[in-house]
Amino acid sequence: MTGAVTGAMTEPRKIRITTFKERKKRGEKIAMLTAYDATMAGILDRAGVDALLVGDSLGMVIMGEESTLPVTMDIMVHHTRAVVRGTKRALVVADMPFLSYQINPEETLRNAGRLMQEGGAEAVKLEGGQSPEVIRRLVDAGIPVMGHVGLLPQSVHQLGGYLMQGRSEADAERLVAEAAAIAEAGAFAIVLESIPAVLAARITREIDAPTIGIGAGANCSGQVLVSYDAFGLFDGFVPPFVKQYAQLGETMTRAAGAYIEDVRTGRFPAP
Ligand code: KIV
Repeated sequence: MTGAVTGAMTEPRKIRITTFKERKKRGEKIAMLTAYDATMAGILDRAGVDALLVGDSLGMVIMGEESTLPVTMDIMVHHTRAVVRGTKRALVVADMPFLSYQINPEETLRNAGRLMQEGGAEAVKLEGGQSPEVIRRLVDAGIPVMGHVGLLPQSVHQLGGYLMQGRSEADAERLVAEAAAIAEAGAFAIVLESIPAVLAARITREIDAPTIGIGAGANCSGQVLVSYDAFGLFDGFVPPFVKQYAQLGETMTRAAGAYIEDVRTGRFPAP
């Protein structure tokens, strides 16, 4: 692929939901990151990332909120449009925000449709063991759906915090059943968030759909990270399972300091 700078083996062709299934069949991992604007999307796309998630995590890392709950449909459409404009190869998946898919089937369909039609997303993601009929209805309307089980940030108050899920046998069985039902309903992939690695490995073995782990161990079909966590841009709590590949926040603070110093001393602008 022209422009890929990683040296990693990167398929040149556009990534589609069918690529996810092919990758799982061939045992090739899927690399996904979050993006919220065109510039960041372009940088990650040129690096060869397979999929970009316009996550409602933007509530925290972009808007500075305490949780993802204040994120609305209008905000998601706005950021999805920006990411799509910066992306050439990666599959763009947009999160359905809190209460955009729970009220009734018509509203769910309209909201998912907005993310695709106005935002330009190629798939939507929704959290939890939503009734499989909801997912089936979206899939029947031509809207690819990514599921999300385990720790569900939109249910943080009900879960009592950002805690690992699936630790008890009963909870683990519930998550296996949820993932199976979501896959059966037609989800093309499922995010597994903050669950024990053995449970994620079991779900990955037992369902056909590829699994994308975040804090769920190495035996998923792929991985996703919040890019602001992975690249050291977010100044808040970063979960311990995150590997940080750069400290861009510190680099930018130093660069801004140099600029401020130049302006104050008259070194910039040059005559
Ligand atoms: O919103 C988000 O960034 C997510 C990831 C944590 C999977 O849903």
